Amino acid sequence: MSKILLEISNLKKSFEHSRGSITLFANFNIKIKEGELVALVGPSGSGKSSLLHLLALLDEPSSGKIIINNKEIKNLTDIQKDNLRRETVSIIFQDNNLLTDFTAIENIMMPLVIRGEDKKKTKEKAYKILKDVQIFNRSGHFPNELSGGEQQRVAIARALIAETKLILADEPTGNLDFKTSKEIFSLFLKLKKLKKTIIFATHNRELANKADYKLFISDGNIKRVNAR
Ligand SMILES: Nc1ncnc2c1ncn2[C@@H]1O[C@H](COP(=O)(O)OP(=O)(O)O)[C@@H](O)[C@H]1O
Ligand SMILES: [Mg+2]
Repeated sequence: MSKILLEISNLKKSFEHSRGSITLFANFNIKIKEGELVALVGPSGSGKSSLLHLLALLDEPSSGKIIINNKEIKNLTDIQKDNLRRETVSIIFQDNNLLTDFTAIENIMMPLVIRGEDKKKTKEKAYKILKDVQIFNRSGHFPNELSGGEQQRVAIARALIAETKLILADEPTGNLDFKTSKEIFSLFLKLKKLKKTIIFATHNRELANKADYKLFISDGNIKRVNAR
């Protein structure tokens, strides 16, 4: 039996606007296990990014509980949150993923550099991962010298090197052609084999249907839907 990595109970998120409050979701309950690949789907503006931000500890719920790797977020100090994020969570966005002043290889090394790990070993690891994501010949390039697909590969390589248990991806293939999207998705399958949990927001039905299951957000509700 796989372990539970993420436990969400009674989660609610609302935003106050000048014309009243909108509730993106309420009473959301789910347990997500290690090694699960979950697609987050729903129309634009339904709350996919907002949910990912909550899980990345970048925002706070209106009410409810989030437990990541047995730690209840509400009980953590800011420093403990930073540590949990650094050790347990990787985030991949649609774009603007990379630090523009650093080369591909330096971007990939970054999570381990921040953790203070040995530079030489980190570099060796980064080059190996660069091979895995098939952009070995781009190691010295800066982000603006890379295509969208290459940038996403670097972002995923950075998640791979960090070896975090939870990987959150917000429309990671949104700007990519279908062939490249599929290649990026195959890296998610690799991560799943390594028992990582991946939650990715997408508008791509075909990729969503390849997940273990879907979370469908709309009209203030999140429903679990089995993928085909
Ligand atoms: N910081 C914020 N303050 C107020 N409203 C917000 C904020 N962030 C998001 N929203 C609103 O929440 C809704 C959901 O946004 P979002 O989570 O980005 O949706 P999605 O990622 O599914 O397109 C939108 O109507 C958006 O305007
Ligand atoms: Mg979004």
